[in-house]
Parts: sequence; structure tokens; C-alpha cells
Amino acid sequence: MKVIITGAAGFIGSNLASRLVASNFDVIGIDNLTYGNLRNIDHLKGNPKFNFVFGDITNPFILNTYHADVIVHLASQKIPRYSNALRTLDENNLMLRNIVRKCVSDQSRMLFASTSDVYGKNPNVPFNEESDLVMGPTKIKRWAYALSKIFAEQYIIGCNDEYGINYTIMRFFGSYGINQNLTWWGGPQSVFIGKALKREPMEIHGDGQQTRTFTYVDDTVEGIFRCITNESAINEIFNIGTEASAEISISDLAALIWNLIHPDEEPMLTFIPYESFGRYEDVMRRVPDIEKIKSKLGYQPVVSLNNGLKRTIEWQKQIPAE
Ligand SMILES: NC(=O)c1ccc[n+]([C@@H]2O[C@H](COP(=O)([O-])OP(=O)(O)OC[C@H]3O[C@@H](n4cnc5c(N)ncnc54)[C@H](O)[C@@H]3O)[C@@H](O)[C@H]2O)c1
Repeated sequence: MKVIITGAAGFIGSNLASRLVASNFDVIGIDNLTYGNLRNIDHLKGNPKFNFVFGDITNPFILNTYHADVIVHLASQKIPRYSNALRTLDENNLMLRNIVRKCVSDQSRMLFASTSDVYGKNPNVPFNEESDLVMGPTKIKRWAYALSKIFAEQYIIGCNDEYGINYTIMRFFGSYGINQNLTWWGGPQSVFIGKALKREPMEIHGDGQQTRTFTYVDDTVEGIFRCITNESAINEIFNIGTEASAEISISDLAALIWNLIHPDEEPMLTFIPYESFGRYEDVMRRVPDIEKIKSKLGYQPVVSLNNGLKRTIEWQKQIPAE
């Protein structure tokens, strides 16, 4: 099977590329390296099963000469706190249209990277795939990311109705691990690890009582792999995350990371009020219900937060700080 991965030099894309190549798939990986890093795919250089293309998915011609059975569309702009709302809306939309058009013309199946952020402020956790998607006010720019993903989900389903393309929508919950971007772009783990390694205070946004469930990247990739290889994933939406029992507050995550690096020491934390990001809203609890992917695709996350963090810390010690 031939697979195109957009965003292949990024965090999830590079881990997925390694997994697919190891399983004998032919992989074409595309990335413009805005957030990804070539070191993430260095080990695949020269492998005849992997072809890296440096290019921008907003360019409608970039994929013309490449063909695949499946396109895993991971390339994305994220929450505008770290970028720009217009860029998030524009680029995500342009990329979406180019990838959908390609899937229609080549009859490729489209796997789309959506996000847990689409559940927004819905207070009823855990979220299953039928849960309501609850956004905040339009003037709060952070919602631009979730909206770009909700728009994409509806657009893809519309293209299934009109053109019959096959799709799978994957809503990832807090993936972390090796090859993660070392800034806030990549989430809290790498930033907290970086600070703890330097014995500097870890920045907590808000009061730190907001909760998340985190998924080690091998488990995320296992979920994607099952979506690629399993026919019962066709035209379905899946949460890809970990068990609801793994819910942890951001303050507790920071303390856990500090203590894995400096056992029995009081963690150094500094609290940054949300107001310093302009008008902002956080999601206070983000917890998935993963029964659907477990029962339909036999998925089961296996890496505990402790073990995943230990692996990530060891990896990060080898990486030059950004
Ligand atoms: N990491 C998570 O926990 C998480 C959670 C929810 C959803 N997601 C979604 O999963 C996908 C992958 O996330 P990630 O954490 O690996 O992000 P990432 O930023 O590490 O990887 C995305 C890659 O896409 C590339 N890219 C961005 N715009 C591009 C463009 N116009 N043309 C070509 N390449 C481009 C970047 O350079 C980067 O390498 C994204 O769609 C993201 O929204 C991730």
C-alpha cells in the first residue's frame, strides 16, 4: 500500500512514517518544515520505502506527480495563541481543499487529523464522537483552530456525499513523545521537560487546575495505523486518545515531570494569568471516550504517562534546545 503523509517531518507525521516504513508500506512524506524538523526523519534518508518531498500543501500543484491509496493529512496550523488566526483559517482551508481534490481525482482514501479541541467547552466529559461541539465567542481567536477542523470535518463529509470519497476523521487527544516540537507549539510536555532540565520554573497557564488526558505518540500512531489498515474505519470518526482514568491536571503534570527529573524536590512553578494572552478561553476538562475505536478497531493504548514521560525525557536530553 502506498501512503502520502502531509506534515511528515512533524511530530506525529515522522513517528507515523517510521511505523509505516517498518511495516513495509511505501511512504511519500511532504512537509514545508515550518514547524517540522529534518532530524525527525533523518533515519529514513536513503530508505527506498520513503520519499521526502519538501513542499507546501497550500500549493495546489505540489501533489500532481504523486499518487497513493491513502493520504494522511496531518499538516496544519494550530491554536492562534502561538501563530495567527487568519493564517490558521486560511492555510488549513487551502490545504484541505487541495487534499480533498487530490483524493477525488485519484480515488485515494483521506485520513484527516482533527482534534479534541473540536469538543471545545462542552462540560460533559468524557467526549464521544457524537458529543456536542461547543465553541466560545467569535472574538476569542483561539477558537479559529477548532473551527477550521470542524469546517474540515463537515467539508470532507460533504465531499463523501457529492463525490463518494472515502474518509476517516481522527480526533487526537494530547499526543506527546519523541520528535515533539520543543516549544509550546508541541504542547506542555516538552516545554516543562526543557525547563526542569535547566532547573528553571515551569510556566503554568491559568491556575493549573485545567485537566487533560495525554497519549504517548506510539499509541497515537497505533490508532492511525489501525485506521489506515482496517476497512471498518472507512467513513467513520474516531477519538484517538487514552483512557479517561488518565485525566491529570496541568499542575500535576508539571510536578510529575519535575519529580521524574529531580526526585523528591519541590517543583518550581510560575503561574501566568490567561489575561496575558489577550482575550482567551481555555478548555477546563478534556477527556475522551475511546470505546468506539476500541470496539471497532481493537485499539488499546498501552504506554502509561510515567513510562511515556521517561522515554520523552531521555530523548529530549539528547536534543539541542531550540
Ligand atoms: N500533537 C497533538 O497532540 C495533536 C492533538 C490534536 C490534533 N493534532 C493534529 O495532528 C496533526 C499533526 O500534529 P503534530 O503535533 O504532529 O504537529 P506538527 O506541527 O509537529 O506537524 C505538522 C507538520 O506540518 C507541517 N506543515 C504545516 N503547514 C504546512 C504546509 N502548508 N505545507 C507543508 N507542510 C506543512 C509542519 O512543518 C509540521 O512538520 C495536526 O493536524 C494537528 O492539528 C495534534
